[in-house]
Amino acid sequence: MGRDRTPPSVVLVGAHGHGRGHLEQLAARTATGRVRLAGVADVRPLDDQQRSLAGDCRFDTDAGRLITEVRPDVVVISTPMHTHSQLALTAFAAGAHVLLEKPPTPTMAEFDTLAAAQKAAGVACQVGFQAFGSGAYAELANLIAAGALGEVRRIGMIGAWTRTESYYTRAAWAGRRTLDGVPVMDGALTNPFAHGVAMALRLDGSSGADSVDAVEVDTYRAHPIEADDTASARMTTASGTPVTAAVTVCAETSREPVIEVVGSAGRAELWYTEDRLRTADGERRFDRADLLDNLLDHVADGVPLFAPLAETRSFMQMVEAIRLGPAATPIDARFQRLDGHRVIVPGVDDVVRQAADNGALFCELPVAWATGKPFRWSEGDDNAVG
Ligand SMILES: NC(=O)c1ccc[n+]([C@@H]2O[C@H](COP(=O)([O-])OP(=O)(O)OC[C@H]3O[C@@H](n4cnc5c(N)ncnc54)[C@H](O)[C@@H]3O)[C@@H](O)[C@H]2O)c1
Repeated sequence: MGRDRTPPSVVLVGAHGHGRGHLEQLAARTATGRVRLAGVADVRPLDDQQRSLAGDCRFDTDAGRLITEVRPDVVVISTPMHTHSQLALTAFAAGAHVLLEKPPTPTMAEFDTLAAAQKAAGVACQVGFQAFGSGAYAELANLIAAGALGEVRRIGMIGAWTRTESYYTRAAWAGRRTLDGVPVMDGALTNPFAHGVAMALRLDGSSGADSVDAVEVDTYRAHPIEADDTASARMTTASGTPVTAAVTVCAETSREPVIEVVGSAGRAELWYTEDRLRTADGERRFDRADLLDNLLDHVADGVPLFAPLAETRSFMQMVEAIRLGPAATPIDARFQRLDGHRVIVPGVDDVVRQAADNGALFCELPVAWATGKPFRWSEGDDNAVG
């Protein structure tokens, strides 16, 4: 692909929502000859702007038919997560490399099927965790590997965002654990803050198979949704590090999420959405390289992928624990308030920080609304404790 100077052909599946950004990127790269946009699939028609970006490439409402007939070099999949595995399997079967939006799949069984199919097809699969292309992540990973922080004692991930109610009404799958009987898993840790969880685990070197021993989860919802909007998870990695993620989309003040790595000889904070790293030497911002460019370079020249599918398996263990665990505990109306169209849980900004700093689940803290019971899950363990 690419060596004969023919630009690699790309099909985009899912052009609305987040896919619009992929379409813009593919149109820009088609203009420079980096790729050739060969087709766009979406179950909904394209609007004028999308049609103009798509140019004269094929459009189909049936992604499977388009992929099978066009047989592109690369398929970019930006559809709801419960459609990912079927579409990616179709792409692998057609011999295409895949850029698959995060989270890879809603269930571990689908993930393992996908990973096996990818291996059998001999193609590459990059997961849309774009922060892995950041120089800030690379720098922190290098510092940890070089022992600059000493022995890693614990890792915390803190997320406090706000969302308007429309976030959960924009699509049928938003805020769902299942849709029409199919697992979806659109919770705070499994979707908007998925990047932070995947990165926190990988910074510990705990990303592939068998890298997490146990996951404990404790999830809540203030919005009238099925999944959680406020959640904590403690993962004990195979190397013994506690990695605790505590997040909410019901914050009083929205702040960019941060990963804190605490070692025996120092600590570091990484604001992964801003490519910003703070260590004892001060604070720096870094550049970020793009996931699609990296996938193309990987296929052409063998450079390592930033976010290979197999390296997201530990993140999937957390997704699986949340899926198998109990439904989110409702946060009583007394502990919520409405600010315009935003649902707020007063005090939750401090609670997520305390949880991550102390390696605690919400229900282990003196928090009036945190009345849930923790759920513990280990892979291969049929005796999960709820
Ligand atoms: N990397 C990031 O930072 C980031 C940000 C936002 C969303 N995402 C991910 O992108 C994906 C899409 O999210 P979204 O918010 O844009 O969803 P969305 O529902 O707004 O849009 C998904 C698009 O896919 C189309 N679609 C659905 N099923 C299809 C099918 N079978 N074949 C073809 N098209 C189909 C829909 O019509 C829609 O155009 C999700 O996996 C989400 O988690 C990633």
